[in-house]
Amino acid sequence: MKLRSKDLLGLYHLGADEINYILDTAKDMKKIVLSSMKKVNYLQGRSVVSLFYENSTRTRVSFELAAKYMGAQAVNVSVNSSSVAKGETLIDTGKTLDAMGTDIVIMRHNQSGAPNLLAKNIKASVINAGDGMHEHPTQALLDMLTMIEEFGSLKGLKVAIIGDIYHSRVARSNIIGLNKMGAKVQIYAPSTLMPVGIEELGVKICPTIEDATKDCDVVMALRIQLERQKNALFPTSNEYSKFFGLNPDNIKGTKKNVLFMHPGPVNRGLEMTSSLIDADNSVINKQVTNGVAVRMALLYLLIGRDEL
Ligand code: CP
Repeated sequence: MKLRSKDLLGLYHLGADEINYILDTAKDMKKIVLSSMKKVNYLQGRSVVSLFYENSTRTRVSFELAAKYMGAQAVNVSVNSSSVAKGETLIDTGKTLDAMGTDIVIMRHNQSGAPNLLAKNIKASVINAGDGMHEHPTQALLDMLTMIEEFGSLKGLKVAIIGDIYHSRVARSNIIGLNKMGAKVQIYAPSTLMPVGIEELGVKICPTIEDATKDCDVVMALRIQLERQKNALFPTSNEYSKFFGLNPDNIKGTKKNVLFMHPGPVNRGLEMTSSLIDADNSVINKQVTNGVAVRMALLYLLIGRDEL
């Protein structure tokens, strides 16, 4: 089997068969991540460039490690000290990377759709590492891998997503992906952070945090994205944590073996109490490990697309 596109721009564009294929490949890649000899030559002689217009720790580092573990040349463009700062357009920057023989460009941008624009204009594969309020497909894939590891399958899982749904590309990609894979998603957010029409993506909007988390297999908190808020959309941090943050009281109705998830970076005590972040059934660090495996799988499948 092959991935149908040269790019990974969002889960919206992937079929369930492709998502399964990526996750199955990631399970194999995880064995390399967990081994003491993290070096294979699947991508020897290939080049991967990271072009991040927004901050990142997890996504940028895990892509770089994923490329290096597989023997590729991995380069990070520091946007502030690149020719972008001299006014070069995104397409011209992309064509410049193309001309150097880059195989894959990993891109994060604050504008929704920027990776789609780049992908249309360059020969290299483009992976969306998060674009504005649109999609963060590799995050949702690593989240799905983490759920599968714990439950065996996504089919029929009940997943609650709580917090800043409006600005969250993580929520959007998870909602799209989990729906395709047969899970049920229910959401809760301050009304100012709930996008109009979100239910058309196939989610249930819940009236209270307790309703949203009741009988859930997974509870995922989202980061408050202050960098995308032009106006104050909730009164104070204290009020947010009291009414919208996850704590031991408002998750009492979940299933016993519930998983606590967060894409990171976490604002401790605001989106989730430390007691939940550090609980035995918190899989936040497993999510990070699985991020490397999923990104190895994607680099391998996209670069090797013509050879598979
Ligand atoms: N979850 C996530 O995208 O984290 P970073 O912003 O650190 O990459």
